[in-house]
Amino acid sequence: MLGLGLDTPGTWLLPRPFSIGWRSERGLIGILLRVFGRGTRALSALTPGETALVLGPLGTEFEAAEGRTTECVAGGVGLAPFVFLAAEEIAAGRPVRLVYGERDAEAVFDTDLLRELTDIDAEVFTEDGSRGTRGRVTAGLDPAADSVLCACGPTPMLAALARFAVEHDRDLQVSVEEHMGCGIGTCQGCVVRSSAGRWVKACVEGPVFRATDLDWGAP
Ligand SMILES: Cc1cc2nc3c(=O)[nH]c(=O)nc-3n(C[C@H](O)[C@H](O)[C@H](O)COP(=O)(O)OP(=O)(O)OC[C@H]3O[C@@H](n4cnc5c(N)ncnc54)[C@H](O)[C@@H]3O)c2cc1C
Ligand code: FES
Repeated sequence: MLGLGLDTPGTWLLPRPFSIGWRSERGLIGILLRVFGRGTRALSALTPGETALVLGPLGTEFEAAEGRTTECVAGGVGLAPFVFLAAEEIAAGRPVRLVYGERDAEAVFDTDLLRELTDIDAEVFTEDGSRGTRGRVTAGLDPAADSVLCACGPTPMLAALARFAVEHDRDLQVSVEEHMGCGIGTCQGCVVRSSAGRWVKACVEGPVFRATDLDWGAP
């Protein structure tokens, strides 16, 4: 994870959290950016030659396992960390599956670009069926698969996957989408509740957690 902000006069912006989307052999990094509000709009308006504040890398990352498929389950902008993860795993010769859900076809990221960056085809699900398979990403999962299950997306999706994982005795890692203020553990703006009843900071102890380490509340 990176914190990305602006420090140009007149456009001061506290860093917002972003996943490292990809890296090039020349040492450049890229991010996948979706515009939600003021911060992402300002960052998307940057032009070549302008500078941004970059803080990182921060927090924890997904862990793949030798000899097992990494099954990435993405909802919306939760796709971003899996572009990097999939590309790294494929480059290391390990199999990856990418299951990617959106509300509708209009929200789906450029799948040709995704293939170019990762070397795999995403399996797309949309809630209204306007692209790919109709339904939620959970419908695309085989309960009996022996994969490493990794998920990133809105909390209700992660909670549904956490229930799926418990029900089918699957290991699941989740990257939570908390709003963040500082990214370095000082502001308390990103806390999530652990299964032990403790508040934990998603920016330093996460954003990637074992699903069983978090409290998902009642279904
Ligand atoms: C660990 C982590 C990694 C992330 N990686 C990426 C990434 O690689 N690419 C990317 O585009 N975004 C990513 N995000 C989300 C991104 O950080 C937010 O979209 C951004 O902080 C929003 O800032 P803003 O100022 O544009 O919007 P704000 O002004 O803060 O919010 C505008 C509106 O959008 C809503 N909103 C904000 N974020 C989200 C969201 N994620 N989903 C749905 N609604 C939201 C707010 O509730 C509010 O209503 C990541 C978030 C986390 C926690
Ligand atoms: S973002 Fe400030 S403590 Fe986590």
